Amino acid sequence: MSKASSFRNAALVVLGAILGGLFVASWERTAAGARQNNPPVTPATIQADVTRLKDITPPFSHPMVDVAMFAANLWFAGDRKNWPLANYYLGELRNRLGWEVRLNPSPKGADGNPMDMKSIFDGIDTGSLTKLKTIIAMKDSKQFAMEYKNLLEDCYSCHKTAGRPYLRPMVPVAGPQPILNLDPGATWPQ
Ligand code: HEC
Repeated sequence: MSKASSFRNAALVVLGAILGGLFVASWERTAAGARQNNPPVTPATIQADVTRLKDITPPFSHPMVDVAMFAANLWFAGDRKNWPLANYYLGELRNRLGWEVRLNPSPKGADGNPMDMKSIFDGIDTGSLTKLKTIIAMKDSKQFAMEYKNLLEDCYSCHKTAGRPYLRPMVPVAGPQPILNLDPGATWPQ
């Protein structure tokens, strides 16, 4: 072995030792930090987590407030023939209805029995929601107005089953979203 290459080998060993030392030191610091920040999981900590999650769960009506806003926006977007925006709000509306079903899957119905929210939702999803999606894709204003009313009848049918006949939707007369330009031909902001 030449002098130069043995020197190079020795240098590599020293460098390896330094890097190894640095790695161990930083790993130990990370492990100690993790131990400090994540105390061991026990039945008591799980119970505390469950209590906290229940505490921050939104009220059951929360997704419905979103549904109502998106349904109104959907009407005005379709009314102004802004089809991409109408499609967007239809998607948001469907998403929040699904969230309501997960959040409140079996509320007490008008007949006193638990309701099956999922099967009602599935019926609407494959019914008026799917029809509206197709109609929006076809940009058909006349059919849009008709099918939108069918959707509102579906909304109300579920409200009656849920013992809330006083939640009667209507074709909205004012949009809840004044910050968005509904005009599909708008040119500002660019
Ligand atoms: C699968 C059943 C179901 C469908 C479908 C449904 N809703 Fe609801 N909705 C409910 C229930 C249940 C409540 C009461 C929520 C609560 O307070 O626990 C509610 C509440 C509401 C409220 C009152 C929210 C508040 O507290 O301010 C509005 C507004 C509303 N729905 C609009 C709609 C519209 C619009 C549609 C259709 C696009 C619709 N809902 C479809 C079940 C449904």
